[in-house]
Amino acid sequence: MRTDTSYLGLWLPHPFVAGASPFGYYVDTVKRLEDAGWAAVVLHSLFADLYEVATDLSVTGSAIEQRLCGLVTELTRVLSIPVAVKLSPFFAAFGNIAHRVDEAGAEGIVLFNRFYQPDIDTTTLQASPHVQLSTSDELLLRLRWLAILFGHLHASLAATGGVALPNDGVKAILAGADAVQMTSAILRNGPAYVTLMRRHLEDWMDAHDIAVLDDMRGLVSLQHTTNPAAFERANYIRSLQSWHRHQALPH
Ligand SMILES: Cc1cc2nc3c(=O)[nH]c(=O)nc-3n(C[C@H](O)[C@H](O)[C@H](O)COP(=O)(O)O)c2cc1C
Repeated sequence: MRTDTSYLGLWLPHPFVAGASPFGYYVDTVKRLEDAGWAAVVLHSLFADLYEVATDLSVTGSAIEQRLCGLVTELTRVLSIPVAVKLSPFFAAFGNIAHRVDEAGAEGIVLFNRFYQPDIDTTTLQASPHVQLSTSDELLLRLRWLAILFGHLHASLAATGGVALPNDGVKAILAGADAVQMTSAILRNGPAYVTLMRRHLEDWMDAHDIAVLDDMRGLVSLQHTTNPAAFERANYIRSLQSWHRHQALPH
């Protein structure tokens, strides 16, 4: 069975990558990730300006998009290493911005940046920083956009956000991911969790008679699914009706 994958032009023995986290702060903790068997390690951010919320009401979405694409063009021009761009999902036309970042020369698109929302402390009346580890619920947004983008870009696609359980890794690849980054799951379960991820992927491939990872990638993408409407439309009414069919209303 072959679980190897190509990400940013690099060969990886399997798709599971340790996402950016405090594990990247020290060489010995990075080494722990390597020893556990993660295929690659993403180091933490060096500049907070990667992480911007546009609070100036006069700044337009198109100005932000233009700045982003200009930055990617410039980076890919001056750097000789592949550039992956971790994007926020908060664009009016996410597919278009992914396409433009791809055209600007990015070798990888990482879906999605996860914004940490400040909470409000009702005692001190201060906004307080609040980091919450993710759950599988957050994966669904990633699955939708991986499935939509699969087969349309030159750049590799990586999922980050909500890959909490071994089956989440299978889902991300079925949607179209070349690599699957995980952070919260490592912080929760420790670096050895990669063994479970790999074993489950291999068991799943075995049960579905799939010998090569490339043959399962994108099987449930927009291009290949028998139900594209599930990704294309909000399916709002149908989803609500299905909830109503399965749940009793409270008294
Ligand atoms: C404690 C912590 C530190 C993080 N540091 C970074 C960072 O330096 N740079 C970055 O791009 N993402 C950072 N992230 C975000 C993760 O890399 C990841 O994208 C996010 O947690 C969603 O993935 P997950 O659901 O697997 O946790 C951090 C996340 C956590 C929980």
